Amino acid sequence: MTQSPVEKIEPWRERWLVGRTGWDQGQAHGEMGRLLEHATREGRLPPGARIFSAGCGRAHNEAWLAGHGYSVDAVDAVPEAIEGARALYGKVPQLQLAVADVFAATAPGPLYDAVFDRAMLCALQPQHRQAYVQKISEKLKPNGLVMAILFRQTRSPDGPPFSVNEDAARELFAAQFDLVHASSCPPPPNPQNVLEEWLCIWRKRSL
Ligand SMILES: C[S@@+](CC[C@H](N)C(=O)[O-])C[C@H]1O[C@@H](n2cnc3c(N)ncnc32)[C@H](O)[C@@H]1O
Repeated sequence: MTQSPVEKIEPWRERWLVGRTGWDQGQAHGEMGRLLEHATREGRLPPGARIFSAGCGRAHNEAWLAGHGYSVDAVDAVPEAIEGARALYGKVPQLQLAVADVFAATAPGPLYDAVFDRAMLCALQPQHRQAYVQKISEKLKPNGLVMAILFRQTRSPDGPPFSVNEDAARELFAAQFDLVHASSCPPPPNPQNVLEEWLCIWRKRSL
């Protein structure tokens, strides 16, 4: 496994190897339907859109999106995460799973209509957030969406995971994106140290 140019991957791999994956809900997140509804309505996400997701873990949410007619490219930097995703969802049509570091330099590829994020931005060391937002912005078409389920409040302010409230999100996204939807979610069943999540959808400005 190559060393990430930004976030260290080895601690993530150790968590996967010993099964310390408390964020994993074992199924699609209960708010996926509402996220998609707002992405379609306020975000104008087109049917069959191409969606990218980094840090997909076992890809429950990405398989759900593929099952709703989207074409989803989902990556995780840890091979064992992608093995787990393939065991569950390897045969889901329109779901492409790959081992990849979101921060790695890649040749320019086709641009996406949307990026999905659940527990990736909030998992990163805060000093790496801006680099992540830049990376996902580069993957988006003009007017493309970031559709995210973020941790708003956690029991451990010093993390991990690291909460990202509206002010923090605006600092990260405002230079390139407009907020098109934000709403609160009930506390998730896990991870148990997360007290509140929120949905947010950002549209990349066209230049
Ligand atoms: C908190 S988990 C969230 C997993 C999944 N999104 C979910 O909600 O179940 C964060 C995931 O990001 C992966 N990850 C960490 N750094 C990464 C990077 N630089 N590139 C791609 N994936 C990364 C970890 O291996 C882990 O599976």
